[in-house]
Amino acid sequence: MIGIFDSGVGGISVWKELYGLMPHQDFVYVADSAYCPYGRKPEGEIIERAEKISKFLIKKNADIIVVACNTATAAAIKYLRLHFAVPFVGMEPAVKPAIAESKSGTVGVLATAGTFKGSLYLNTRTKFAANVKIIEQTGDGLVELVESGKIHEHETKLLLQKYINPVIAAGADHLVLGCTHYPFLIEAIKEITNNKITIINPAPAVALQTQKIININNISTSKNLGTNIFISTGNIETMKMLVRSINPNISEQNFIMQNI
Ligand code: DGL
Repeated sequence: MIGIFDSGVGGISVWKELYGLMPHQDFVYVADSAYCPYGRKPEGEIIERAEKISKFLIKKNADIIVVACNTATAAAIKYLRLHFAVPFVGMEPAVKPAIAESKSGTVGVLATAGTFKGSLYLNTRTKFAANVKIIEQTGDGLVELVESGKIHEHETKLLLQKYINPVIAAGADHLVLGCTHYPFLIEAIKEITNNKITIINPAPAVALQTQKIININNISTSKNLGTNIFISTGNIETMKMLVRSINPNISEQNFIMQNI
């Protein structure tokens, strides 16, 4: 079974790619909506939540865990890899491909404060961005809007404009989505950028990496039924809406509210 977790519904954008690539696998997804957002929480608190959720997923027989949250990856993946035997796959803003493809020499990154503080991001930036200008934009408030299902609302577009306009003005030709909630806002982002900026969503690459690790670790799929279970520690309505926009056939009983 593939366990997935995020601070909330954002990781559904990663489940979408995993499920698209491996539809016969069993998935258990945990949205930690009761504790969302993680973006400006102290590292210790995020580690505590990540540990509890990982224990829960392992009890449910997870063979591998995808930390479908850039912020939780930045804060906790080292700790999780040290303390649990199952393999963990994490998220990281995809600045490397953006830098490689950029013609203008300017790249925008939209992420949470926690992700920008993380050593994963800082190391990648130091390693690859010597000759490129990186415009870092913290997306405060966007996670909360997605959590409340406000994907197409005017207020969401206004906030996105506030964050993205300076990135466009700086001459960026790529925008890296460094938070798994943001792919749900891609339509609005395309409108704001007039389709003139390449948007980079790392989720497809993370799904491929997960498949690779499953193969390397010989994780057996022979008993799999292709079940998808979605658990939320808080509100579950937005998750139902987003999951069903990807697969309308997921039944009511596969959505569970539970304290972890
Ligand atoms: N989806 C999380 C991420 O990728 C959102 C973080 C938050 O809860 O603030 O960073």
